[in-house]
Amino acid sequence: QQLGLEEQVEILPYDKRWEFPRHRLKLGVQLGAGCFGRVVKAQAIGVKDSENTVQTVAVKMVRSQTNAAALEALISELKIMIYLGAHLNVVNLLGACTKSIVKGELLVIVEYCRFGNLQTYLVKHRNHFINQVDEFGNFLTDAEMQERCQLSGKTMESMNECMAVNPSDIEMTSQRSAHFNNECSVSVAELNEASVPNGLEHGENELPQSMWVCQQDPETQTHQSSICTADLISWSFQIARGMDYLASKKVIHGDLAARNVLLADNGVAKIADFGMSRKMYYKGNYKQSGQGLMPVKWMAIESLTDRVFSTPSDVWSYGVFVWELFTLGKVPYPGMEANHELIRQLEKGYRMEKPDFAPSYFGGILTSCWKMDPKERPTFSQIEELIASQMESLV
Ligand code: ADE
Repeated sequence: QQLGLEEQVEILPYDKRWEFPRHRLKLGVQLGAGCFGRVVKAQAIGVKDSENTVQTVAVKMVRSQTNAAALEALISELKIMIYLGAHLNVVNLLGACTKSIVKGELLVIVEYCRFGNLQTYLVKHRNHFINQVDEFGNFLTDAEMQERCQLSGKTMESMNECMAVNPSDIEMTSQRSAHFNNECSVSVAELNEASVPNGLEHGENELPQSMWVCQQDPETQTHQSSICTADLISWSFQIARGMDYLASKKVIHGDLAARNVLLADNGVAKIADFGMSRKMYYKGNYKQSGQGLMPVKWMAIESLTDRVFSTPSDVWSYGVFVWELFTLGKVPYPGMEANHELIRQLEKGYRMEKPDFAPSYFGGILTSCWKMDPKERPTFSQIEELIASQMESLV
């Protein structure tokens, strides 16, 4: 049964402590836009009680205030983010302006990630890439690396720093990176599973896909250093970790792709865009009913054939994300169209190859993520452990 917008807003498990005063938010340039929504850069004024502190944030809003479906999708995204709570590898919610929601305006304030989305970032840095593996996917020796560093102009020290990515460095100390003010600091415990009313999940009404097309943000341009294999491994590890957190909270992302991963300072990668997310209630997975735009090349075989979404279907998408990483942002299934022929090929067992830049053990990860039977795919925590063990054996 479909609820009206006002009814929905009424039972939205929204904690007033998330509310941020609209007048203290100064909207700026556009960071991204999809068919239904857009994200702008903004300054939040008066953070931490002092009138003078200003913090850069990102604000998500609907494109057209008369598009009820878009507004519903954003409400749903806000609910998912409130429910999720904070994690280092997730783009965290900072607050929301909901006062004008009946007029169709909802502003969702999230962390600003300086380097934008990973897909654009990879493409931009393609020509500065330092490949640390040979043609078999084995790591180069120090001497070989030395030579490669000289060629690329990068010092061996900075290279070693890059290699020393230690899983324990990426701490789970994901306390809210920025407290707005006391009203806004969240108590996730209060918004536990039980506080998300079951009745709000309108399974018959599919949500739009939001694909952000990143535009020029001046601050994104400042960073021009090269990326290396260890960076790509670190990002694949961090996203497995973030997805493991989502899975532990029984949230399906539904649209994991490099375009939906944002890059923050210190090489931290964060999962963004919960517009397609679902909280799994008592069923193990979510069945999509309508047609709508679908990220076909990232979707698991069972999502394509039966419209079934689950944590294992997120694992499939994770495999495609890893493929994007190690091809430095190529479009998956190059030369193929996202159509019935691709689906037929996948059903027959066709899969993409391990990218040349990926260390050999990623071949096994990709193969297992793309198993036909969802039950045979690894869990995110298994992937996390596997990458961590390989990283440890290097340092
Ligand atoms: N583009 C979309 N969301 C963004 C965010 N939170 N930070 C930076 N760029 C973005």
